[in-house]
Amino acid sequence: MPRNHFRQIASTTTLAALALTATSCNQASNDEIPSLHEAFEGLFLIGGTLSNSMLQDPSDPGYAIVEKHFNSLSPENCMKWGNMNPSPEVSNYDLIDSFTEYGASNNQALVGHTLFWHSQTPEWVYQDEAGKDLTRDALLARMRERATLMAEKWGDHILYWDVVNESIMSDGSWRQSKYQQIIGDDFTEQAFRIASEVLPHHAKLLYNDYNMTDAGRRDAIVAMVKDFKSKGLRIDGIGMQGHWLMDYPDTEDIAASIRAFGSTGAKVHITELDLDLLGRSSFFGADVDIKRLTANSENNPFPDGVLPSSEEHRFALRYEEIFQMLVAEAEHIERVTFWGISDKTSWLNNFPVRGRTNFALLFDRQFQPKPAFYRVLNAASKTDN
Ligand code: G3I
Repeated sequence: MPRNHFRQIASTTTLAALALTATSCNQASNDEIPSLHEAFEGLFLIGGTLSNSMLQDPSDPGYAIVEKHFNSLSPENCMKWGNMNPSPEVSNYDLIDSFTEYGASNNQALVGHTLFWHSQTPEWVYQDEAGKDLTRDALLARMRERATLMAEKWGDHILYWDVVNESIMSDGSWRQSKYQQIIGDDFTEQAFRIASEVLPHHAKLLYNDYNMTDAGRRDAIVAMVKDFKSKGLRIDGIGMQGHWLMDYPDTEDIAASIRAFGSTGAKVHITELDLDLLGRSSFFGADVDIKRLTANSENNPFPDGVLPSSEEHRFALRYEEIFQMLVAEAEHIERVTFWGISDKTSWLNNFPVRGRTNFALLFDRQFQPKPAFYRVLNAASKTDN
């Protein structure tokens, strides 16, 4: 593939052609349905993600959905440290260039996901040339180098940055990650200090985590944000990932967390919304190592990708109750981003069971809107916005 394949293809008039190609691959219905982000205008932004495979294929039919329904975009994987620099000598920047140029040309609010995450950070990051752990100062310097590179190369285009991902445990304690072991309990604070100093002034800085209804994590995050603000550090948003199940968490508990986070003055972002229709609990025994599971008839009941209408309905109602709650809490919320575009490529097809046919998003495997799409729209129309 030529260097920056997407940029060459997507430049000038070809971007319009790309939209046409994508739409013609799709059925006409994407033209006929209302735009999600327009429906939620005045409440919050609506985002989606670009996977690496989409970024490598400008003819992906998902682009028709992206351009019509989303006014914010996150990169699913290409900005993670391990994707960017799997080793110190390798720099994979082309997909990030494609992501930022594409999003900027569509006026979408772009998310830098993610600066510092214990997962997907390669071992070399923590080590010196002899393979020994870095000192605290050396690791902080390496983190600053990464943030500076991000700021210089893509800072102009990116509005929101997930500065730190998942550094707090459900009981409120700091995660004992390698970052934490080397730097100490102020790893997250130091990361925000670096981001505050290095990222452009227009950038909004977020802390991002999952299971945000856990009381320990919720309270620790509220305390952390207040502490950072009292120290003059920039922290503008709290990202609730939103990888939710059909029956968990309770929407009342989600709303309580949104209000708690909103009380800090930071805006809430639902950063990675999807619903795991197939779920986990029914087939996980206590001793099962979930990463070893592969699809079988028990845990993968709809392998042809078609749901019985009762299941489709249940899924749609769950999305509707979530969006009704989000709309009711909109004063605290700046953005709601879906983690993916369609069920076809959702990460939930491979987690926690490899090779399942799961159902997670508003568009099906043929890129058609599902009943859940209309339920979500319905939630928007029940407001005075
Ligand atoms: O692209 C390669 C492919 O070439 C290779 O053959 C295959 C073999 O395993 O792997 C493919 O890469 C996978 C990649 O997803 C693309 O599908 C990686 O193994 C896999 O680890 C990676 O998973 C991503 C995961 O983060 C870990 O980075 C998911 O796509 C992505 O949706 C997920 O997103 C995270 C957020 O960043 C943070 N919050 C949780 C969320 C879900 O885990």
